[in-house]
Amino acid sequence: MCGIIGYTGKEKACPILLDGLRHLEYRGYDSAGVAVENSDREDHPIEIVRVKGRLQALTEKTNDGASVEGRCGIGHTRWATHGEPTELNAHPHAAKDRRVVVVHNGIIENFQELREVLTRRGYEFHSQTDTEVVAHLLDAYYQGDALDAIARAVTRLRGTFALGILFREEPGVIYAVRKDSPMIIGRAESGNLIASDVPAILKYTRNVCYVKDLEIVRLTEDSIRFFSIDKEEIQKEFTTVQWDADAAEKGGYAHFMLKEIHEQPKAVADTIHPRLKDGRVDLSELGFEESEIASLHRIQMAACGSAYHVCVTGRYVLEKLTGIPVDVDLASEFRYREPVIEPNTLMVVVSQSGETADTLAAMRYAQQKGVPVLAIVNVVGSSIAREADKVLYTWAGPEIAVATTKAYSTQLAACYLLALYIAQIRGTMTDEAISSHVEELLSLPGKIERLLEEKERIQWLANKFSAERDIFFIGRGLDYASSMEGSLKLKEISYIHSEAYAAGELKHGTISLIEKGTLVVGVATQPQLVEKEISNMVEVRSRGACVLGITSYGNYTIEDHDDFTIYIPKTADCFYPSLVVIPLQLLAYYVSLARGLDVDKPRNLAKSVTVE
Ligand code: AGP
Repeated sequence: MCGIIGYTGKEKACPILLDGLRHLEYRGYDSAGVAVENSDREDHPIEIVRVKGRLQALTEKTNDGASVEGRCGIGHTRWATHGEPTELNAHPHAAKDRRVVVVHNGIIENFQELREVLTRRGYEFHSQTDTEVVAHLLDAYYQGDALDAIARAVTRLRGTFALGILFREEPGVIYAVRKDSPMIIGRAESGNLIASDVPAILKYTRNVCYVKDLEIVRLTEDSIRFFSIDKEEIQKEFTTVQWDADAAEKGGYAHFMLKEIHEQPKAVADTIHPRLKDGRVDLSELGFEESEIASLHRIQMAACGSAYHVCVTGRYVLEKLTGIPVDVDLASEFRYREPVIEPNTLMVVVSQSGETADTLAAMRYAQQKGVPVLAIVNVVGSSIAREADKVLYTWAGPEIAVATTKAYSTQLAACYLLALYIAQIRGTMTDEAISSHVEELLSLPGKIERLLEEKERIQWLANKFSAERDIFFIGRGLDYASSMEGSLKLKEISYIHSEAYAAGELKHGTISLIEKGTLVVGVATQPQLVEKEISNMVEVRSRGACVLGITSYGNYTIEDHDDFTIYIPKTADCFYPSLVVIPLQLLAYYVSLARGLDVDKPRNLAKSVTVE
């Protein structure tokens, strides 16, 4: 996720661009840049200034915008997806002689094939980004008619994009077009603006228009015109934004955590789509030789916190689909148990931040033993990403809330992709099984979306449970892994004591803790375990527990044995964790809210634990 901004008007553009980017840094902060066209000069040159790192560096480099002349420009703050966070990969990106300059938020899935086509046509590339392809593609189509060039270029692009575009031969004009990535248009006293999100322009105007997919916008100092992809002019309504500045940073949500919970459908889609081709998983980006995969004897996984829960889930999925034995360790324990690591082992570490000290140390320990490491990471260019032998990036975008949600969901998706990819190579699944799982994978974003519509009911449940002293989560198999995540989510943001137990383990001691009114969340999605799980719910309920059951549609007998039920859509057995976690995240969020706590910044915690 990145932030884009554009301004054309009576004022100096660069200070406005910088101010807008300051309000978009929550969307990404790896690098930043501006392109400003100086139409007051005869040759109206376009000046481009880019920096690696935070926006502050760009502010200093441009003397807070004073040193860049011109009243029409575009700006960008980057969350790296393709290419390390360097100045060379920073936006804006330009075609030869800066005939076309572009800022982009999104992921161009077919950028490699377009890059090859354009290279054959003599275009020279200078960055590793997918965005540079867009600049050259527009240049290739541009014969003096910008609208036509844009219409033709966007029909070639596959993926998601919100584009701000300058054409050197059209001074004072900004073009914009989007597909799946957000874009708003602002009409202000001093001029007109484009932005990824409301916070960037709230200071200048509340008069905005939300652009629809594939609508092309042409902005000048005193006009805004909209066109369909067929270049037909269309009329659009402007509305008045009611948000205050703080709410705007969070996209209108009360907290970053709630915003990120709702970003999960897109985050999961962004992570899986580029890796699925013709009904199969394509992880050639990892650079494995098929022989390496075929000769694997063991997979060792290690991570911390929620990422560890992903590994516990991943073990079930990987063993079931690939037949390879999998071990899982807490990263903080791994190196101290002096594990015996055999040849033909692959180490998999999982980390949102890519900076967690214990996970970094576990990875280094394995590498010292001569074991290759695959890292599943969200932050491009992070320490773990840089030091790992292979990286499978999750494209969740920056996650601000301390309690992880969308990164967790994309890490699960990455584990599914890895398991299916290995199964394809080792032949442990039939082609039919592979394609049905891929089809089910593609349905997950929509099913997550459907679960998010239940949030009001979950808030009602949370308000009932918010005064609880102890809350237990029980599950079997994959549902045990999901229970661990649900318990951690609740603990870390509501401060209520909670534990997750393998449901079959209760009678070996823990059930003594159950007394009248104790809340127990029972997760029961695995078809071959539902009956056993329900009998464990009966055990606790017969001792006075209040039970919230979570199961898939169809298991209606659960209502004879619980007090409340949350149903989730059916999916492939090994994909249920991606759906179960949604009500569990919402439950934790609303309990914390009911207790008046700081949901996004819970006490004693940090977003990235870079100490042992
Ligand atoms: C999850 O909600 C917590 N914030 C924490 O457990 C986190 O998952 C853990 O610290 C690992 O962080 P990482 O994914 O950045 O390595």
